[in-house]
Amino acid sequence: MNLEVRHANLNDLATLTEIETICFPASEAADAEKIKSRIEAFPEGFSVLTGDEKIIGFINGIRSESAVLTDEMFENANLHDRNGSYLMILSLAVSPEFRGKGYGKLLLRHITECAWEEHLKGVTLTCKPELVGFYEKSGFRNHGKSDSVHGGFEWYEMRKTF
Ligand SMILES: CC(C)(COP(=O)(O)OP(=O)(O)OC[C@H]1O[C@@H](n2cnc3c(N)ncnc32)[C@H](O)[C@@H]1OP(=O)(O)O)[C@@H](O)C(=O)NCCC(=O)NCCS
Repeated sequence: MNLEVRHANLNDLATLTEIETICFPASEAADAEKIKSRIEAFPEGFSVLTGDEKIIGFINGIRSESAVLTDEMFENANLHDRNGSYLMILSLAVSPEFRGKGYGKLLLRHITECAWEEHLKGVTLTCKPELVGFYEKSGFRNHGKSDSVHGGFEWYEMRKTF
């Protein structure tokens, strides 16, 4: 399979929304409008992995001067601060049929390397307890329970600083 990582564009919107809907519970999944606003606010922070041009998964985020990811950021991509020192990851999703092949790790590494190349201070995300180990394997440190109530779940704050 010919793998490629590229920036998302609005032609991807329907497929990205479908993958997001499959990958996350309804209370947590971003709808098409939110995904569109994330692409528009920071296209360089929205990466798509394709295999033979079919979308396998994606990762997106916004920049912030604060190292802490807040629930408002999930709702409003316009909080993107292009001079911000940290990248906040809002969504990482791999289509179910492509899981367990290293693609999630690849997307995470890609966006982390971009942040490092841009001289940011670090990358922050929040995750459910069962995914703490997944992010630790990629060098993220567990900063304990987050204040987040996003989607009505419990979240841990993970950060990788450079
Ligand atoms: C989480 C998700 C992105 C992982 O993607 P993936 O492509 O299946 O993961 P990878 O194959 O890259 O796994 C990388 C490593 O993490 C490990 N891993 C995967 N899922 C894990 C989990 N739940 N807990 C601990 N380790 C895990 C893998 O075994 C692999 O380890 P290795 O490098 O030693 O072989 C994918 O399952 C997904 O899209 N889930 C639904 C959406 C979601 O929850 N996203 C995260 C939001 S915080």
